[in-house]
Parts: sequence; structure tokens; C-alpha cells
Amino acid sequence: MKHELIEKNIGLMAVLVVLVIAIGGLVEIVPLMFQAQTIQPAPGVTPYAPLRLAGRDIYIREGCYGCHSQMVRTLASETLRYGPYSTAGESVYDRPFQWGSKRTGPDLARVGGRYSDDWHRVHLKNPRNVVPESNMPGYPWLSQALVDPDQIETKIKVLRLMGHPYSDADLQGARAAVTGQTELDAVVAYLQGLGVTPKEAAP
Ligand code: HEC
Repeated sequence: MKHELIEKNIGLMAVLVVLVIAIGGLVEIVPLMFQAQTIQPAPGVTPYAPLRLAGRDIYIREGCYGCHSQMVRTLASETLRYGPYSTAGESVYDRPFQWGSKRTGPDLARVGGRYSDDWHRVHLKNPRNVVPESNMPGYPWLSQALVDPDQIETKIKVLRLMGHPYSDADLQGARAAVTGQTELDAVVAYLQGLGVTPKEAAP
């Protein structure tokens, strides 16, 4: 019997198992690459403005994702605490996305507009100055370093290649938009834009 042949031949069995899992995976993953809901921006979601883009990269560099997720799940306990749940269309301009799952700190997907810029500045420098029991590390060096204007144009060009609709005017204005700004300015701009549009659009 053919089945017996497979059961007695571990090599063949392994190959066939991998094949079955690969097909199962492709059937689930490939359609997502073409579904409008997952590849088109949600209403009001635009590519990151230069300063926010720079801030996003600093967020990644500093490893903020190690303690903060950016995805509100579809559970009442989550939506009551953070706001409307996240949709795929909100992350189309996030490469790589910052959904994450580790929550030593709160989810940040809807943090934009929740605090003032000044609150973020004090908090990022030393969280304990505003939240005494916080165990988040301070990032005092962000206010001392300037955003590197030489990199921003290249970043935007690369994202444009990948289909992000930046205009020529966006590209030309990019350098001026980040020149003289500190890394702290950039991170605050990034945080203040997180999840703002869908929050406003929600009922
Ligand atoms: C070691 C874990 C850890 C890391 C790393 C970390 N945080 Fe936090 N974060 C926390 C914790 C815990 C809180 C809750 C207490 C507080 O507000 O400080 C928090 C709170 C916050 C808040 C307020 C959120 C809210 O809804 O109240 C923001 C904004 C924030 N962090 C941004 C950042 C940024 C930006 C970085 C990287 C530069 C970062 N965090 C890195 C643990 C962390």
C-alpha cells in the first residue's frame, strides 16, 4: 500500500509534511497580499511626514518595541482602555510594522494626542518625573542629538520605490523639515501621530 510506504520511510514522510504545511501556509498568506483591506491605507492614513519618519526610526533604534506593542486587539478590555481596535489598513506605511506583542508598558497604537508634547518630553527624559512608579528607562540623550538631514531623502526615495505615494515636493521639503530638529522632537512627533486619524474617524 502506498500509505505504508510513506509511513515506513521517514525521509519521504518529512518531505511530504513540509510540502503540505507549505501549501497550507501559502493558501492563507498569499491572498492577504492582494486583498484591498490589507494593502490599501485606511481612510486618512498618509505616508509619514519627514520628521515623523525620522522619529519612527529612532523609536526602532532605541528598542521601544521591546516594551510597547502598537496593536489594539478586538477585545472589550482593549478597546475600553486604548480606543478603537487596530486595522491592517492603518499599518500599510509601516515597514517594518510595530504591532508587537510584548507589553511591559501600555500599547501605543492610540497614544497620539493623549498627552501634550511637553508631557512626552519630560517623560522620555526621565519617566519617573511624571509617573513615579514607572520602570521605563529614560532617554536623556535624545534631546542632545540632532536628526541627521543627510539620511531623510534616501529614506523617502526607498519608500517611494516600495510604492509609498510621496510627491516630488515631499522629497524636496524633507531636508528642511528635519534640519535643526532634535531626536526628541522627532520621537514626540512620531508618538503624537500614532493612531490619531482612525480615532477621530471612529463614532
Ligand atoms: C523597559 C520597558 C520600556 C521601554 C524599553 C520603553 N518603555 Fe515606554 N513605558 C514603559 C512602561 C512600564 C510605561 C508605563 C509607565 C509610564 O508611563 O512611564 C511606559 C509608558 C510609555 C508611554 C505612555 C503611554 C501611556 O499611554 O500612558 C509612552 C508614550 C512611552 N512609554 C513611550 C516609549 C518610547 C518612545 C520608548 C523608546 C524610546 C519607550 N517607551 C521605551 C516601559 C518601557
